[in-house]
Amino acid sequence: MPEPTVYLNGHYVNIADAKVSILDRGLLFGEAIYEVVRVHKGRLFRLDEHYRRMCCGLKAIRIRPPFTPRGYARIFEELTARNGVRCGYIYMQVTRGAAPERDHRLPQTPSPTVFAWARQTPMPGWVRFPNGVATVSVPDPRWQRCDIKTTMLLANTLAKQHAADAGAFEAIFVAEDGTVREGSSTSVFAVLNGVLRTHPANHRILPSITRTLVLEAAREAGIGHREEAFSYEEMLDAAEVFLASTTCDVCPIATIDGHKIGKGVPGPMTKKLLRLFAKKLG
Ligand SMILES: Cc1ncc(COP(=O)(O)O)c(C=O)c1O
Repeated sequence: MPEPTVYLNGHYVNIADAKVSILDRGLLFGEAIYEVVRVHKGRLFRLDEHYRRMCCGLKAIRIRPPFTPRGYARIFEELTARNGVRCGYIYMQVTRGAAPERDHRLPQTPSPTVFAWARQTPMPGWVRFPNGVATVSVPDPRWQRCDIKTTMLLANTLAKQHAADAGAFEAIFVAEDGTVREGSSTSVFAVLNGVLRTHPANHRILPSITRTLVLEAAREAGIGHREEAFSYEEMLDAAEVFLASTTCDVCPIATIDGHKIGKGVPGPMTKKLLRLFAKKLG
């Protein structure tokens, strides 16, 4: 297999030749924003929305977006073509770049580091998880700006490993007051009294592209839905609960903390949204 070609600061290089400085502030301080964009049948899915979210994140952490929409798209198109990706994703990260000293104050003349790679993945999520997945709940110890898609993901990686240790697919963050937030790398939806519910898009969760897509599909299909948080107890009693993200699509949940959701198999609304979601992918 040929070595993947990746993008680094204006160049397309072999992955082994892609090097960044140990003084990069992405490495030292987690000053970085990332995006994961789906490639479906060789096409980039909802790239404009990913671009907008990335620019919002960059502005929030005081990095000037280092590309135009066209320049951004070209990197994704090149990586898809050069690596022959038909089904998979592209990961992009922008950091504040290296500064001469490790100093908490921001550098006067920053030079952002931009890198990206493409990956072929075996199949879409809905094919991988036909019977639903096991999940566990974890306390949410994260900061107050979960809306920024930063690489400061320690709480998320530890939560995901906690799930893996328990033989589960995902960990669901639950706030101290019992409010369900989101998964470690997914949005969470529940069907309560026939209405589709998910946490509002505020500073407590990531404004997930797939979440927006699911809400859009629900609106178009006339499915009752509300962006209103629900509690852990409500979630356990829900008829259906599912996860949503770029890499797992719409993914039915079979169990939470060993408790069966509904009948423990994907429910009718989840299945309907899966069909609508697949249609939107094209
Ligand atoms: C915390 C969190 N929530 C939700 C998502 C899903 O976002 P998207 O649908 O944009 O992939 C992610 C994806 O990485 C995430 O990290």
